[in-house]
Amino acid sequence: MWRECAMTLSIEWPCVALANSPLAKRTTLKVGGSAEWLLEPSTPDELREAYLVAKEHKLEIRVLGGGANLIIDDGVLPGVVISTERVRRTFRPLDPGEVIHPDDMTEEQANKLFDIEAPAIAVNDPRLIVWAGASLPGLVRAASLLGWSGLEGLIGVPGTLGGGIAMNAGGRWGELWDVVDMVRILRPDGEFEDIQRADANPGYRNGGLGECIVVGAVLRLTLDNKHRVAARQREYLLEKCKVQPVTESSAGCIFKNPGGPKAGGENSGEISAGRLIDELGLKGLERGAAAVSKLHGNFIVNRGGATATDVFGLISEIQSRVQEARNIELEIEVKRWR
Ligand code: EPU
Repeated sequence: MWRECAMTLSIEWPCVALANSPLAKRTTLKVGGSAEWLLEPSTPDELREAYLVAKEHKLEIRVLGGGANLIIDDGVLPGVVISTERVRRTFRPLDPGEVIHPDDMTEEQANKLFDIEAPAIAVNDPRLIVWAGASLPGLVRAASLLGWSGLEGLIGVPGTLGGGIAMNAGGRWGELWDVVDMVRILRPDGEFEDIQRADANPGYRNGGLGECIVVGAVLRLTLDNKHRVAARQREYLLEKCKVQPVTESSAGCIFKNPGGPKAGGENSGEISAGRLIDELGLKGLERGAAAVSKLHGNFIVNRGGATATDVFGLISEIQSRVQEARNIELEIEVKRWR
């Protein structure tokens, strides 16, 4: 079926390809239009091939992970969107000291990951080899089951490994790059490259990888105890649920905190955008079905059926009210596709 679609435009895609495919449900805010082409590779190699074919046809290329920090405009996005949804496998090193890269792993070796008691697995090696489309909530859950520490701070953070590394997802209890050993990227010239942690320079909400696409990573966690890891995750999640609309549809924080980043880019701005919006009484402000969260002023929630136009209308209104009242220009933190 997909090949038929592809053939009508005389492009033979190397993976599943859907024409004019809706994107809203693929983002956490659940707004936006469709992609001219949605490509769904299922391995890093297929992703690379899809990228090269799109490049060869001079099509605009965007990569979609969990759509967690993204607002897509209404209408049709030209070009291709490569979804990492199916590039989602996770592996464990089989022997102490030896990491088998996902690309080189046999089916049999890969399947062993799912049996965490399998004897061939190095039980005391707290590393995970993860493809870009693996979900962050899934990894956090796996770490808890394994009794490995390091990902607790990402509890309640949606999205995928790839997006999380690209933007250094995290919060006050830690960031994803804290546990990164190595990242495999696809460079704009279509070649893979492995970046070791020591050679990377991640900052505040920025993995520092520029235009490169993350296709996988090796994460190094710390051996701990299942109950302790689970308890910390629970504690952080409870704290987060008190102050952020964790269970509602949102794109995370909309605006950067103004006044920063501090020297070295390691920190957020000095003023909380959420507090600023709260102080101006804008929580609960609505535009269509989009509303400023009543829990945290820097979140816009989709109460069901909102459009990107509603969301951007609300964003503009907040920006002008903050500018008028405080003479502060709020800058958008989320990505926008138009
Ligand atoms: N506050 C209010 N009202 C609000 C929101 C916050 O009074 O509506 C107050 C809080 O009570 C607190 C202070 O403002 O005293 C700071 O709030 P918070 O701890 O929520 O931090 P933030 O600066 O608003 C940042 C990140 C969040 C991250 C939290 C916790 C940015 C733009 N936001 O928010 O990141 O979860 O710290 O680590 O840097 C995201 O990136 O998507 C995101 C939500």
